[in-house]
Amino acid sequence: MVEILNLTRGNPDPAAFPIEDLIRCGEENLKRDGKTVLQYGQAPGYVPLREWFAQYYAVKPGNIFMGNSSLEIFHFITQVELRPGIRAFVESPSYDRANTLLQRSGAEIVDIPMEADGMDLSVFEKELKKGIPALVYSIADFQNPVGITTSEAKRRQIATWAQQYGFWIIEDAPYRRLRYHGIDIPTFLSIAPDRVMQMSSLSKLLAPGLRMGYLVAPEAMINKLIKYAVDTYIGPVLTSQGMVYEYLRQGLLEPNIEKIKKIYGPRLDATLASLDKHIPGTIIARPEGGYFVSIKLPKGNTMDKLLPRADGIGLKLTDGRSFFINPADGNNFLRIPFCQISPDVMEEAIKRVASILD
Ligand SMILES: Cc1ncc(COP(=O)(O)O)c(C=O)c1O
Repeated sequence: MVEILNLTRGNPDPAAFPIEDLIRCGEENLKRDGKTVLQYGQAPGYVPLREWFAQYYAVKPGNIFMGNSSLEIFHFITQVELRPGIRAFVESPSYDRANTLLQRSGAEIVDIPMEADGMDLSVFEKELKKGIPALVYSIADFQNPVGITTSEAKRRQIATWAQQYGFWIIEDAPYRRLRYHGIDIPTFLSIAPDRVMQMSSLSKLLAPGLRMGYLVAPEAMINKLIKYAVDTYIGPVLTSQGMVYEYLRQGLLEPNIEKIKKIYGPRLDATLASLDKHIPGTIIARPEGGYFVSIKLPKGNTMDKLLPRADGIGLKLTDGRSFFINPADGNNFLRIPFCQISPDVMEEAIKRVASILD
């Protein structure tokens, strides 16, 4: 029987989860602070963890909001800030679930095409003239799905417009710490802290099952989100945040990031090399970090043809159209998540993709 190979979601490699450390940290936190983390309360998150993140980002605890995953925080933001009649800009393509939440808000979603160094600013500017958005959603580092990193020049221009026209930049940064090559570019948050909400989570750096996401933003916005959170679920899962706090307090996150970078970096390189060998000339951007590489299918190939063929040879793919507000734009787009897959298996998966292309 053919082994099924899965190139669908961007999951971390479970072999890298620090299970023993997390068991110990969870136990230590429950013993020390069980009466707090098992009780209702603390809508913006577990107080010691909020203080830890405030120190890490050099902001006040009032600038930090924590929820059950960054996706949930984004859901709250879209509910608080968007409604029919309001505009929001998004990179095209972008994270499929973020697109879904934006669309679910009923706002007018304007997709801005991605270039090799971030959004096409001529389209951005034209759209600004048609109507100022309430927010712009950007995954500036190692974007999901393409792997593109927005250049510093483009970040500065978008931040200048945000200040000039008074819109929010939602900087979604779950991959920022996973840089395998090159050097960091200043975040939107560091460029325009008064106009930026930076969201991140421990899903890609530690374990997604913790559902531990957080946001750094101006205090007035945090307070709006706290009210929305209280009305929605009273407060997030504090036992998970207690476990995470203990893990961070003991200084275990940085070594864990170094450990996973050593696993994922070579997987990125191997994926690029396999694509160059088996489907040359198709890589859209050569990422320096993150979880994803994407390709443009050679001319004549479409998702309509590829998906049933992939099924037939034991290959699971994500439909490229799901990353686009206008699905037809993604009919020749294929995302390849590389973190969970060893180089040998990735080469086999890419050979299978090559074998079903026209
Ligand atoms: C850009 C981006 N944002 C958010 C998420 C979801 O993260 P979380 O597990 O914190 O909800 C993902 C997961 O793939 C992602 O790629």
